[in-house]
Amino acid sequence: MNTAAINPGFDLPTRDVTVLGSRLRYVDTGPAGSSALPPVLFLHGNPTSSYLWRNIIPHVSPLTRCIAPDLIGFGGSDKKPGLAYRFEDHVRYIDAFIEAMNLERVVLVIHDWGSAIGLNWARRHADRVAGIALMEFISPVKSWNDWPEPIRPLFQAFRTPGAGEDLVLDQNVFIEKVLPGAVARGLTEAEMQHYRAPFLERGSRQPMLSFPRDLPIEGQPPDVVAAAQAYMDWLHASPIPKLLFWGTPGILVTPADAARLARDVPALESVDIGAGLHYLQEDNPDLIGSRIAQWLGRTQRA
Ligand code: BEZ
Repeated sequence: MNTAAINPGFDLPTRDVTVLGSRLRYVDTGPAGSSALPPVLFLHGNPTSSYLWRNIIPHVSPLTRCIAPDLIGFGGSDKKPGLAYRFEDHVRYIDAFIEAMNLERVVLVIHDWGSAIGLNWARRHADRVAGIALMEFISPVKSWNDWPEPIRPLFQAFRTPGAGEDLVLDQNVFIEKVLPGAVARGLTEAEMQHYRAPFLERGSRQPMLSFPRDLPIEGQPPDVVAAAQAYMDWLHASPIPKLLFWGTPGILVTPADAARLARDVPALESVDIGAGLHYLQEDNPDLIGSRIAQWLGRTQRA
């Protein structure tokens, strides 16, 4: 993939909405007229924002309404003093956001923690889900030995009191190291500036630390493990159309995981994006966007 071909600019229209007393920013764009297709809700993860979808949404917005919120504490959304930014907090905010948007039925496009929040919502509102496109999604990890070896010590340190604060709050490692290190092509300085902007001060960075502490690994934390197991069981039984993007080598979804999911999950199509680590949207956005658009046209027309 040619880095120069990937647009660093963000020119999608945004709005603000107040939910649970906090302002959430979201991209809201779509065709001029009405659409026969359900709206698409894009959910990002750690430490990104709706900016992650900037080169994917333009493939989908000619077809239907595209909505991409910034999670509470991320992107252009508010920080909420005193909020722990735990998974359960994001669940509450996105539940409220979806109701505030009056989204009766949606297609979900989800990544990283956006996948955990989105799949958790889908399991509880299956009759409102028209399709799910997912990539590098979070599922329970049995043992630390199953967590990718190159990033194991770092993620163990994030979960260690003191060490996590030093790495994420003081050194800003999630933005400066984890993010560019998990894009196969790397990121340009212009792109890094977009990703840095919500986290310039130490006091703004807690949202990035709370997420790795909530990853469901080796039974901890029990509430997130239970939620993730429940949505994975649901995913393996649901007939809703699904589209999985995977890359090589991948981080949370390896090529071997993708093969197993294609075999075991009903109504799942899978797309190999080529070279990719965790932030696949930064490595092959045009392929991801165009394949989502094709899949919507095939699976969502009445
Ligand atoms: C995560 O937030 O889950 C994550 C981020 C980068 C690499 C792997 C996992």
